[in-house]
Amino acid sequence: MLSGFVTFEGIDGSGKTTVSRLVKERLRSQGHSVFLTSEPTRGWLGETVRRGIEKGVSPLTETFLFLADRAAHIQEIRSHLEAGEIVLCDRYADSTYAYQGAHLVGVLRDPIRFLQRASEGWILPPDLTILLRVSPEVGFERIKDRPHKIPFEDVAFLRRVAANYDHLAKARRFFVLDAARPAEIVSDEAVATIERRLGSRSPS
Ligand code: TYD
Repeated sequence: MLSGFVTFEGIDGSGKTTVSRLVKERLRSQGHSVFLTSEPTRGWLGETVRRGIEKGVSPLTETFLFLADRAAHIQEIRSHLEAGEIVLCDRYADSTYAYQGAHLVGVLRDPIRFLQRASEGWILPPDLTILLRVSPEVGFERIKDRPHKIPFEDVAFLRRVAANYDHLAKARRFFVLDAARPAEIVSDEAVATIERRLGSRSPS
């Protein structure tokens, strides 16, 4: 049985939610114990994040709301890892680096570096991060009719976020998948990657 912390990242419309659900089902059907979670969380801190965004709080306030939600979430993630499960997380720290990294341009110098440093020492590093890569145009096309639009979702902004993800994805823990393809195919590749990466991890 495999255990480890896997995060899914990508711009809005990249299919993270569909793919992470399919991956959960497939890993479970192969006998693994899987906990699927997401950020912003479904708890009151996550609700507070969503409210803050709707109200249009400043980029810096928004940043600290996401970080507060994550700080609490990490305790839950850790307890599932300690129980020997695979934890799949739909968005995590790289969402903050990519999205707030775009929002904080002009507010701070080198926003991504600021955000990474603000996360140092307490963040739980993923064993693997799967980046579902689609062009901002495809992402926008997929989300444009969603009833609950959030203000982050326009093509120009998604373009900046996508560029940040491409920069972040140079780190070794990333695996990049072409997510313009059907979710089933993307999920199969994600499952194979998870088994390979978590299977080759030295036991802690
Ligand atoms: P999303 O995954 O779309 O949530 P939902 O399932 O509620 O639709 O996340 C909502 C938005 O929050 C999305 O546009 C990305 C953004 N976000 C950040 O800007 N920073 C973060 O740290 C996280 C986790 C999400």
